[in-house]
Amino acid sequence: MDWMLADQPVEARLRVNGRPHALSIEPRVTLLDALREHLGLTGTKKGCDHGQCGACTVLVNGRRINSCLSLALAHEGDDVVTVEGLAGGGRLHPLQAAFLEHDGFQCGYCTPGQICSAVGMLAEVEAGWPSHATGDLAGEAELDAAEIRERMSGNICRCSAYPNIVAAIRSVAEAAS
Ligand code: FES
Ligand code: FES
Repeated sequence: MDWMLADQPVEARLRVNGRPHALSIEPRVTLLDALREHLGLTGTKKGCDHGQCGACTVLVNGRRINSCLSLALAHEGDDVVTVEGLAGGGRLHPLQAAFLEHDGFQCGYCTPGQICSAVGMLAEVEAGWPSHATGDLAGEAELDAAEIRERMSGNICRCSAYPNIVAAIRSVAEAAS
């Protein structure tokens, strides 16, 4: 029987921002540490390392996750997108541009997670997923400030830039509607 030991490196094949990578990592390595320590993608931040702050948010197959709570090996075959993969063709992602325009940050540490989370959140709204703040489950959810705050509640900003973060997200949502 083959045993997988937590401190013995194994090969992991990850697809990140459209590029395949073959890594030799210990099975206990989180997706967050694989991105930052093994792939040099330090845009994704480590805040709490316990699933409480959202600084480590990335997109996996289009859905937002806390990469500190997920083992890298669990994502072989997945399509992982980090903040570095959002811009394309020499243009910022609309949410990146909106955060700049609305001054949606101060120190910027939470910002990559906020932006990745907002990308995933807008896709959830587009798919018709309700939130805890949605009043009319049968109707189309209006993405007002209360909805945005509830849906983004997993992303903490210690600088408390929340009003501008909400304004940035709202501007993108309104431009798309
Ligand atoms: S670092 Fe992952 S939630 Fe805080
Ligand atoms: S901008 Fe500093 S933690 Fe959010």
